Amino acid sequence: MLPRVLESEVMDRPEEAREYDAMDHSAVNLRFVDDFLAVHGPGRGGELLDVGTGPARVPIALCRADRHFRVLGVDLAGPMLDLARRNVADAELSDRIRFARGDAKNLPFPDGRFEAVVSNTIIHHIPDPAPALAEMVRLLAPGGTLLVRDLARPADVEELDKLVQLHAANEPIPARNLFRDSLHASLRLDEVRTMVAALGLPAEGVNLTSDRHWTWTWSRPT
Ligand SMILES: C[S@@+](CC[C@H](N)C(=O)[O-])C[C@H]1O[C@@H](n2cnc3c(N)ncnc32)[C@H](O)[C@@H]1O
Repeated sequence: MLPRVLESEVMDRPEEAREYDAMDHSAVNLRFVDDFLAVHGPGRGGELLDVGTGPARVPIALCRADRHFRVLGVDLAGPMLDLARRNVADAELSDRIRFARGDAKNLPFPDGRFEAVVSNTIIHHIPDPAPALAEMVRLLAPGGTLLVRDLARPADVEELDKLVQLHAANEPIPARNLFRDSLHASLRLDEVRTMVAALGLPAEGVNLTSDRHWTWTWSRPT
């Protein structure tokens, strides 16, 4: 069994932010948006929260997919937010995507504030992600959609090597190493399910959705 090996929580070096953004995540991001739209449907006039927004590629893809979406992106890393603001300005979406610096484990917004809460690929950064998952649930409005996705830790080193080879063989070495470290820092499906069950929510809402991702979807009852 592969043990969980943590990587640093916040991506707060400017070159780290640039290196991450230079990697091509477009296919994964578009799949995220398609999956979100399939559960949530069109925008309802409220605001979406993207937790750990990084360079804001997911909010940009969401807003391009539906002209009614507006997104608040939060991240703890100042340099990542600087990059996110530049990317959003380049995409001419500054009127629909805004940002706040904040910690996913303790966000300064009232209960039920957001039409939807989404989060892509941040849970593995957080040593104990349970409080972050609880915050995402707290902030979701009645009838709202939660979609949280992250990498899933492989069973053993052989599987880890296979995934790195399959998905990052053509990336520059730093990017390949980042992918390997992220897989190593990730939670297994059963670990996420245990955290979701501890929140009193259905653990079967968390599923493996690719050879390297788990996804948690939940709709708050109205
Ligand atoms: C791998 S990046 C993913 C960025 C983006 N969601 C995406 O899909 O491209 C993880 C991001 O989570 C942020 N992060 C890590 N821990 C955080 C926390 N406790 N609160 C807010 N952001 C956090 C990091 O700074 C980084 O920008």
